[in-house]
Amino acid sequence: MTLASSTSSAGTVWPSWVLVVAAVLVSGLLLAGPALRRRYPVAWWLLLGFPVMVVQVVRTWRPLMAGCGLAVSRRPALTVVSGLVGNGAPPPQPRVPRHGLIRPTGGGFWLLVRLLPGQVPEDFVKAGPAMAEDWQVHGVRVTSWRPGVVRIAASVADPLAAPRLPKQRGPAQLLRVAVGVLETGAAWVIDLRRVPHWLIVGATRSGKSTLINALVAGLAPQPVALVGIDCKGGMELSLYEPRLSALATNREQAVRLLAALVDLTLDRMTVCRAARVRNIWGLSETERPVPVVVIVDEIAELFLVASRNEKDEAHAAGTALIRLAQLGAALGVFLVVAGQRVGSDLGPGVTALRAQLGGRVCHRVADPGTAEMALGDLNPDALKAAQAITPEQAGMAVLASGDGWERARSHLVTEADAEVIAAEYAHLAPVLPELLTAAK
Ligand SMILES: Nc1ncnc2c1ncn2[C@@H]1O[C@H](COP(=O)(O)OP(=O)(O)OP(=O)(O)O)[C@@H](O)[C@H]1O
Ligand SMILES: [Mg+2]
Repeated sequence: MTLASSTSSAGTVWPSWVLVVAAVLVSGLLLAGPALRRRYPVAWWLLLGFPVMVVQVVRTWRPLMAGCGLAVSRRPALTVVSGLVGNGAPPPQPRVPRHGLIRPTGGGFWLLVRLLPGQVPEDFVKAGPAMAEDWQVHGVRVTSWRPGVVRIAASVADPLAAPRLPKQRGPAQLLRVAVGVLETGAAWVIDLRRVPHWLIVGATRSGKSTLINALVAGLAPQPVALVGIDCKGGMELSLYEPRLSALATNREQAVRLLAALVDLTLDRMTVCRAARVRNIWGLSETERPVPVVVIVDEIAELFLVASRNEKDEAHAAGTALIRLAQLGAALGVFLVVAGQRVGSDLGPGVTALRAQLGGRVCHRVADPGTAEMALGDLNPDALKAAQAITPEQAGMAVLASGDGWERARSHLVTEADAEVIAAEYAHLAPVLPELLTAAK
């Protein structure tokens, strides 16, 4: 009797407690949700967004494949047999490609899909936009994984909308800097040892100098010499002057500085030849000269000429830059060249120089010709992507290297940030007297 009443009272009390706790949790989540989501976007996605997304993908997979023409009908014989055996039951459904485990990433998910006979990866690439619509995600990218299998990667939100500064994990690798975020959500890394020379183009206020700020901020703490050529009177690069080993602010200084850099490169060649090594990385650590990163902001200022005298200077600057590009990679001299336009109208030297700058970054451009010059004869989609960048998306860029193209956005490293970082690491600026005197 006593037992029965306690059970019944517990039975009425217990669910109401559960309801209260659930209501508190739900309302807490609703109230604090947006803030938590902003603060811990990755945890939010992994705990709440991703499980819902898995259900959505699994639920829509078959109709999606059928809708995109990726389902294959069963053989007619099988349909007939099943019709006889099944006594009027509906015929078997068409086969759809099988997908593997759906795996989360920091801002999306990916899965592998086995192609059915007769299918090619391009069929799935074409279906990418439909998948993005169905799953209500920002974008879907399909790549070939191995023969017969494609990888589908989806990013839920646009990682380029507001790139977050990366957390530095462990010591930085020499000449490798995370300057922004790729469209996939991964870090956009400029690795000068892998791609030694870079061309950065973009209309005015498109984000060229901001990208250079991010690069300099990453290189400043490293044992690297930074050399600046800024013929806009030093307006852009003089911010970092304390961390620079030399800075040229007009064409005359630039020509002398570039000639000194060529001499330095030739000296390094002699050292490497004597030591019978092919590049400075083959030298022992004590012998190895310091890597030099040469930053040129607004290349047109070097090449545009008005008088005969200027023509000779421009020619000398162009020849020196081309030599540096040809010899520098092995001898620890790297070029980062930025400009609004880098076309043949600046003189014949520019086209030869452009060909030597393997890493390409194309920000918003004023004319399609500039995008074409920067991105070359890549996929026409890359040119379209570059031309679609709006003035509000400063810092957004299309990157191209030997193996394809992608969209990325640099971290906003302001002039003030760059100035602070340069002052903080001023003591690390290697002293290279021959360069310093040349730029005087
Ligand atoms: N990655 C970014 N994220 C957000 N805003 C950016 C980014 N990059 C640039 N901006 C904004 O755009 C402005 C102009 O950028 P920046 O000075 O780098 O352009 P620029 O291409 O060097 O122009 P110019 O050719 O006139 O020197 C910056 O002051 C900043 O407000
Ligand atoms: Mg600039």
